Amino acid sequence: MSCLEHVNPRVRGIGVPPLAHLQRLAVHITQEINLGVKKPFKEVIDVSSGDPHKSGMKPISFVRQVLAGCIYPQLLKGNHLPPDASMRAQKLLEVCDGNSVGSYTASSGLLHVKQSIAEFIERRDGISAHTSDIFISAGSQRALMVVVKLLASGEGETPTGVLTPIPCPHTLPMLLDEEGVMLVPYQLIEDQGWAIDLEELNFALKTPRGGYQPRAIYISNPGNPTGNVQDRKSIEEVIGFAARQKLLLLVDEVYQDSVHEKGRQFISYKKVLFEMGKEYSEMVELISFNSLSTACMGECGLRAGYMEAVNIDPQIMQVFDTMLCTDISTPVTGQLALDLMVNPPKPMDASFDVYAKEMFYSWSTLSQNAQRAHEYLNNLPGITCQPAMGGMYIFPRLQLPSQLVHQAKMLEVDGDVIYCQRLLQEEGVFVGPGGLNMRNNADCYIRVCILVPPDTLTDVLARLSSFHRRHWANTSSHPCQNRT
Ligand SMILES: Cc1ncc(COP(=O)(O)O)c(C=O)c1O
Repeated sequence: MSCLEHVNPRVRGIGVPPLAHLQRLAVHITQEINLGVKKPFKEVIDVSSGDPHKSGMKPISFVRQVLAGCIYPQLLKGNHLPPDASMRAQKLLEVCDGNSVGSYTASSGLLHVKQSIAEFIERRDGISAHTSDIFISAGSQRALMVVVKLLASGEGETPTGVLTPIPCPHTLPMLLDEEGVMLVPYQLIEDQGWAIDLEELNFALKTPRGGYQPRAIYISNPGNPTGNVQDRKSIEEVIGFAARQKLLLLVDEVYQDSVHEKGRQFISYKKVLFEMGKEYSEMVELISFNSLSTACMGECGLRAGYMEAVNIDPQIMQVFDTMLCTDISTPVTGQLALDLMVNPPKPMDASFDVYAKEMFYSWSTLSQNAQRAHEYLNNLPGITCQPAMGGMYIFPRLQLPSQLVHQAKMLEVDGDVIYCQRLLQEEGVFVGPGGLNMRNNADCYIRVCILVPPDTLTDVLARLSSFHRRHWANTSSHPCQNRT
């Protein structure tokens, strides 16, 4: 008998998440290709989640140069690095204990980096920010997990509920479930570009779902996977709702650098909150998350992010610190890269031109890809797709070809999952299952990361089109199978 039998996912009724199953399949297919097994494609392309470097986007040189100097200070002695990169590395080493990236830092991060983050927020919003409100963590998801854990541990028996958008980032339901928090869904409005709607928020609270205490509302802006970017009015509405319902605002703003629709811009929740007057700015509790895993930096593997807490009780802030202590410290290279992200080269610095060119390349690739994918997918039969205003994904809605409906039924899996599985097996393209439409189970969704080199996107779209048209050829519209 296994010592871990008591945590067997099947015993706990969790089951294997579809994405993990598809990830294993992708690895298996790649291994087969490496062993010489013949496939109709040369390699698997993974566009299921937002990992720009994995998809072939290049890191920002300045970040890597400074980190190289920090990791191996011998490099700082000659002319190996641009002079400003060398100087930054020197300066950053001075703020590390023992002048080494190999030492621990305070659990909520290096004070120097927190200061740079506070200055970045002040420049962005025109509102003061304080290092004491900023907590650096090993990725923004880690910080979110700490907050959710704390929310879940409220007094009494009533479970905590977190209002959660549908669709939402694919890792969020698991995170909430793990902490024993109830996901209280609110539907985003698809034909308004996946906008948040006040009526839907009120409806979500009124819908009976057994006893729970709503304590927070989660927002993803720019939206993952929807690509929606909220305007000021929409943000004001959500803040007003949170104030009336006494909900903590958990705002995931990690894609703030990737707004690509003309005329749109990212506005932070904190800025709007402070511009709504004291009634809100001194009362509404807000925690905002940002990350090194943003679109243009894309340094997900360095694992660093931060949260800024506004109007949170100082005693609770101490608990954040204590809980982050269990990690001992966030990877130091990640923290230093965060410093570079929020305090990049300035126009007079030697590295500025290359830095600006590389950042622009990422942003413009994303912008052009978003437009291209939107047009292309909307021209396929049975697919409709909202334009993405920001973020790294496009989120098309599909009517499932009839053959796939039958297979889904036979295998007792959901329609979106079978679509992804067959696309992966037949064309070597790995897209993320995006779930079923909550109000019309006949339709399902897939999630496609569009921050990939343009040639890769061309390949992805061509393979997806070939797969979709092949299965669609003798199909009228058929519903996806209901989720079990
Ligand atoms: C909505 C959302 N939040 C956060 C992250 C990044 O998380 P982390 O900072 O832990 O890498 C992602 C990355 O894909 C994301 O999509």
